[in-house]
Amino acid sequence: MTTAQTRPAERHRPLFHFTPARHWLNDPNGLLHFGGEYHLFFQHNPFGSTHGHMSWGHAVSRDLMAWEDLGVALPEREGRAIFSGSAVVDWHNTSGLGLPDVPPLVALYTGHREGHQAQYLAYSRDRGRTWHDLGEVPVLDRGKCDFRDPKVFWHSGTERWVMAVAHPTERQVEIFSSPSLRDWTSESLFGPAGDTSGPWEVPELFPLMDEDGLERWVLKVDVYPGRPAGGSGCQYFVGTFDGRTFSPTTPARWLDHGPDFYAALSFSDLPGRRVWLGWMNNWRYASRLPTEPWRGTVSVPRELSLAESAEGPVLRQQPVAELDRLQGAEFGVREHTLRDGVPLILTPHALPALDLSLDLAGRGARRLVLHIGSGDQEEVVISCDLGGRRLVLRRTTAPSVGAPEGFDGEYEAPLTAADHLLSLRILVDRSSVEVFAQDGRVVMTALAFPEEAGWTVRAAAQGGDAEVLRSSVYALRRAAPPRPGSGDP
Ligand code: FRU
Repeated sequence: MTTAQTRPAERHRPLFHFTPARHWLNDPNGLLHFGGEYHLFFQHNPFGSTHGHMSWGHAVSRDLMAWEDLGVALPEREGRAIFSGSAVVDWHNTSGLGLPDVPPLVALYTGHREGHQAQYLAYSRDRGRTWHDLGEVPVLDRGKCDFRDPKVFWHSGTERWVMAVAHPTERQVEIFSSPSLRDWTSESLFGPAGDTSGPWEVPELFPLMDEDGLERWVLKVDVYPGRPAGGSGCQYFVGTFDGRTFSPTTPARWLDHGPDFYAALSFSDLPGRRVWLGWMNNWRYASRLPTEPWRGTVSVPRELSLAESAEGPVLRQQPVAELDRLQGAEFGVREHTLRDGVPLILTPHALPALDLSLDLAGRGARRLVLHIGSGDQEEVVISCDLGGRRLVLRRTTAPSVGAPEGFDGEYEAPLTAADHLLSLRILVDRSSVEVFAQDGRVVMTALAFPEEAGWTVRAAAQGGDAEVLRSSVYALRRAAPPRPGSGDP
């Protein structure tokens, strides 16, 4: 008999990344923090494990790590799909949808029918447990086929709500304002700019302090197809925003150079802290991943900040501090020197999930190479130039795993390793690898399906020795209570 325990695809279910109990997930939607709970809504097909019948699924967490799947929050409505969007707490009841002392949660989402997309509103007065979908009349309609993914936030400078919505075909983001979340006025258009090779989707606009304490704004917009490595990817601009118009002061940059990070959506839970999550996948092969009965997961929540660089401010992404609570056994690395061509095994035995940090100084070494593998296979090989040029991630999957065609490949990011110094943090889960290099300035995310359960990691210097300045390897524990019958330890 095949049970959840023996079903091979279950062994790919992540330990510390959210997945729905069953069926399809794509973009994160409506992230917010309210009453001590984090809410993650997500694009969900409640009936199958491919894209279809799009609805908002809903999960809650007290620590951003262990999520409870609450099922469907906003179901497809008479054939009209509920596409991506965002949600806010309407603290001052500007919408009039709250009750005395109960601010409503207000979601703005795209209603999609073949040939028509418009923005709609739904609200909840009971911590997101039930929703009233005002789906008869859109709050914003341009009579267009493609007009989607509203991102809403409160702009304190102008004391109004601001919403960014994508015009995919025109490669533009339109910015609207509203006193009430219900009547929207167009303020400006941004784009085309940066990469315009594919339709634009899922815009984001938020402030971040730079290293001098100056407020800057980040506009992120996703492109599919477009990214250099093929498939779907996210680009961002840094600039200014006066409540009406976004003006970039940097060129467009890719924010994750791996193949599997898309549709990132951010929120702020504490003053000065901005966090986002992305869908860990790529539209190129998303519906063919070997993970029945669920398909789709999100990245680790990442805290965002700005770092200075010779080319102006760049976005830095780092795993939120809450992840540290999942660290279990620590495995010390005794060696202080990585000898040229002599591999160092960093994991004492195969681990389902791990958190690895390594700071190195090149003492003649030209390259550091990390091999992440299972069984006899090396599914992921990460190679970092210490002279400072590039980071390359190569993914190879054993044929027995059944990865989709076109899944394997080599992905490259520009890397500056000044003074031959390299800092790496790598999070490995049962079916993903997230690489944060140079304190999160260079990020790569890739799904990876092991041939056998459990990962081992080894490191090697090439072309000379490297000095290990700091290192740690932690086994990561499961973030959620075990699922009955999942066969997890
Ligand atoms: C991005 C996207 C959005 C859309 C949603 C539909 O991945 O295509 O533009 O709202 O997915 O599921």
